[in-house]
Amino acid sequence: MPGDRDVFRAPIGTHDVLPPESERWESLVAAFAARARRAGFGMLVTPIFEHIEVVQKLGSTTDVVSKEMYDFDDKGGRRLALRADGTASVARAFAQHQPVTPWKVWYVAPNFRYERPQKGRYRQHWQVGVEVLGVDDATVDIEVIALAHAFYREDLGLRRFRLLVNSMGDAETRSRYRDVLLAYWAAHSEVLGAEMERAQANPLRILDSKRPDWQEMIEAAPQIGEYLTKESAADFEMVQQGLHALGIQFEIEPRLVRGLDYYTGTTFEFQSDALDGAQNAIGGGGRYDGLVEQMGGKPTPGIGFGIGIERVLIACEGEEVFGAPEPAVDVFVIDIVGGIAGVTLVSELRAEGLSADRAYGNRAAKKQWGVADRVGARWGVMLGPRELAEGKVAVKDLASGVQQDVARAEVAAWLKMRKDESV
Ligand code: HAM
Repeated sequence: MPGDRDVFRAPIGTHDVLPPESERWESLVAAFAARARRAGFGMLVTPIFEHIEVVQKLGSTTDVVSKEMYDFDDKGGRRLALRADGTASVARAFAQHQPVTPWKVWYVAPNFRYERPQKGRYRQHWQVGVEVLGVDDATVDIEVIALAHAFYREDLGLRRFRLLVNSMGDAETRSRYRDVLLAYWAAHSEVLGAEMERAQANPLRILDSKRPDWQEMIEAAPQIGEYLTKESAADFEMVQQGLHALGIQFEIEPRLVRGLDYYTGTTFEFQSDALDGAQNAIGGGGRYDGLVEQMGGKPTPGIGFGIGIERVLIACEGEEVFGAPEPAVDVFVIDIVGGIAGVTLVSELRAEGLSADRAYGNRAAKKQWGVADRVGARWGVMLGPRELAEGKVAVKDLASGVQQDVARAEVAAWLKMRKDESV
């Protein structure tokens, strides 16, 4: 339990995002939103908590549900859970509103998983993601993967990442594969020990274990690719051809079943070489053709991905790309008269479309000029007693040091014109 001192700190596994780091967040989300919008996605906002049954659809044998769920009773006695991923809420919203298909939505939202916190693994993490519902066509799989890939490469500038793809096949494939896998785990029950129970409940879950002592057994396990039905194999082939056609490199990873139970068909994950092995997934996703039906909706195919914002930003730091944008202060007002004059000037500058800031508290002029330099303002605009009396302000170009008087009434338009000319 936290001591007195600890309770006024962000809880373990969570963090505050302060400027300038938050500016990287803002740019990342803006870039993602723009890319998603260009591809025909609309923004979806869903509650941060759902009825527990919605989150439980991630699968009773998954860590996310069995060990990491933030569930609670509200004051009305309802059993609720904080969202653990975006997909369950999207599928629930689809089943509830029955929108026209294809339904293409993007989101940015926090998710909650009671994990062991470490760098890149948090109890509250944020994702940006997209989901497409209502289309059972491998070309959508290609588009969705390509969207994530372009976001990493073009918007963020990442290079040191790999795309792994796999297919979980259709229901028939999975049923056949489950039987084979179960027999394989049974033959290795002495290695699995008490976890044999979990293997029986869902044989696939063992495949994504990172336990070092199991790796040899997992490596040698039967692979799903050998059990794909003709239709599933054809779809997977189409996805691969599409990625080739778009020049997107990938590796087939037959053990990529991902940690959530809803996956069917194509699964994929992006892993960064700039991150530690256990937390190197900067995003992942796949098909979940049964999930909407599990939420009480009509059978509806779906596919999408989620990208961990914190993790992808750590990868960006590792590759030295996508740094905080330069602060964009056009004008810093040096106010040595005090009172309302400075307030109205700053307000006029902002109304003109310039970014403008000022010092407060009537500090010495020299200090204020120092702040103007520090924030990287392009111009300092000084309002002193002489200027006020003469209806002027002194404008200084902070890069060249050139200073001139400009009529107070015209200064906002004057600066805006100069800014536009230089763009
Ligand atoms: P996921 O693989 O569980 O998939 O999470 C997606 C991404 O979120 C991961 O690749 C990682 O970047 C980030 N992430 C996950 N857990 C944490 C954590 N504890 N701390 C920091 N980052 C984390 C999903 O959530 C699926 N809903 C993706 C999806 C969308 N599938 C289909 N549509």
